[in-house]
Amino acid sequence: MKNNLIWKLIGTILVFVKSVQLECVCIQNKQQANCILYRLNEISVRNTQGTKTVAIVTTRTDGGCTLPENAISFDKMEHVALSCEIDILKVNAFKNQEELKNLDLSENFISTIPNDFFANIPRLENLNLSHNTFQNPTLDTFYALNNLKVLDISFNSISSLGLGIFDEMMKLEELHLNNNKIPKIELGVFDLLHNLKIIDLSYNHLHEIVLGLFDQSQKLADVYLSGNYFVGNLPLGTFDSFKNVITLHLKDCQIEKFPLGVFDQMPKLIYLDLNNNKIKKFPLGIFDEAKDLKILDLANNALAKIPDYVFDQTTKLESLDLSRNKLQTLPGLLFQQTESLKYLNLSKNSIAKLQKKMFQWTYLTVIDISYNKFITIEPDLLNIETLARVYAQNNRINYLDDLTFASSNFPLQYLDIRNNRLVFLGEHFFDWVKNLKRMEVFGNPWDCTCLEDIMIILTHRSIRYTSTGYYEGKLPICVVPQTNSDKCDFTATDKNILSNYYQLYNERT
Ligand SMILES: *[C@@H]1O[C@H](CO)[C@@H](O)[C@H](O)[C@H]1NC(C)=O
Ligand SMILES: *[C@@H]1O[C@H](CO)[C@@H](O)[C@H](O)[C@H]1NC(C)=O
Repeated sequence: MKNNLIWKLIGTILVFVKSVQLECVCIQNKQQANCILYRLNEISVRNTQGTKTVAIVTTRTDGGCTLPENAISFDKMEHVALSCEIDILKVNAFKNQEELKNLDLSENFISTIPNDFFANIPRLENLNLSHNTFQNPTLDTFYALNNLKVLDISFNSISSLGLGIFDEMMKLEELHLNNNKIPKIELGVFDLLHNLKIIDLSYNHLHEIVLGLFDQSQKLADVYLSGNYFVGNLPLGTFDSFKNVITLHLKDCQIEKFPLGVFDQMPKLIYLDLNNNKIKKFPLGIFDEAKDLKILDLANNALAKIPDYVFDQTTKLESLDLSRNKLQTLPGLLFQQTESLKYLNLSKNSIAKLQKKMFQWTYLTVIDISYNKFITIEPDLLNIETLARVYAQNNRINYLDDLTFASSNFPLQYLDIRNNRLVFLGEHFFDWVKNLKRMEVFGNPWDCTCLEDIMIILTHRSIRYTSTGYYEGKLPICVVPQTNSDKCDFTATDKNILSNYYQLYNERT
């Protein structure tokens, strides 16, 4: 594949034309060797004090690259990284490297590993084989690696994991198997991995997690299962061995529902990612035992309703993402126990109204209610003493009371009300947003006189705004008043007049 390329070594003036022997440039630095194939146009990339030398990577007549016996010409390396388009490994490639602790062979074209390959490097602690074309490990592949702590074989073509292949890795703490083609994992495959803390099985073809699969891995803390197809297959008990799990990733899994109790054996759970599934509803009590839960991502589901009191036991909840669902409202007492709640995303639902004071128990700092159906934001909904950022763009807001953000600390710093139906803001609106730093206003049928008043305040207070598209005349900025008044003079009750503005504006967009 690279016979016709010309290779050159930096620092030395060697130029290799065509290939009898193809060279990979290695930078040796103390106990480290990093080797990369340099193409001519990449030569300027690196300049180093370290010794430059070569790892021998031979090209074959068929165009492939072999990592031969004793490939690295200096010994006693602790760290070797080789990304040299290698597709064949000779069994004794690292025979002279028995000190090797970290081996990075990621981003090559390795599809098979010779049996006993690792027998020469038994001290290995970190092995990275990600981004290769590796197919199926056998009992003879990894058996010598009994000091291994981190194994990364992600982004390969693995389609089966035989019983016993990891059995010698008693010290293994991290296992990255993501982005392969694994359809199922038999009970027992991980049984001797008592020290496992991180397992990444995301983006495989799994349909279920066999009950008991992780029973022997009681130290597991981070579990990545996203991107599999657990359609209806997460029965009660699936997560029962996750007693110490802190983060659970179940994004993109086509999950429709959960049985009550499925998270009950995860008392340490802090982060739960359920983004982009097909969840329509979940039972009351589903999070009751996850008492430490802080971050819950339920965005991109099909939720039409959130049960009342569902967060009454998750009192530490800090961040809740419910965006892109089908919600029309939320229960008024939903957040009565979640006083740590800081971030709430309700964007892209169908909410027209929320119960006043429903956030009074929280310390919200960010709320996103954009792309909903609000016609106003009533006072006593968002005048929260900590609320710094409000995203309310793309609703149907036609009126905002002067007291919408009235709170004694003036916390509001960012307000987005673009693409609504606003014609004016009351005279005292800006008295309550003394710390505003940015306000996005365009895309509303503003009365031109009223908008002028707003712009004067924004400029005067150095409040920033985006005007792209508007000042170039591409989009209408405001509606010229019908009457000849030079004062911005409306009240909320001028309903007919206001909707007239909206119509005029709409005709122009
Ligand atoms: C393995 O190598 C890949 C690509 O070089 C890198 O992105 C990944 O973080 C490495 N894995 C580990 C566990 O360090
Ligand atoms: C809320 O969610 C939407 C859609 O999922 C996302 O685009 C937006 O950035 C989020 N808002 C904030 C403030 O994080």
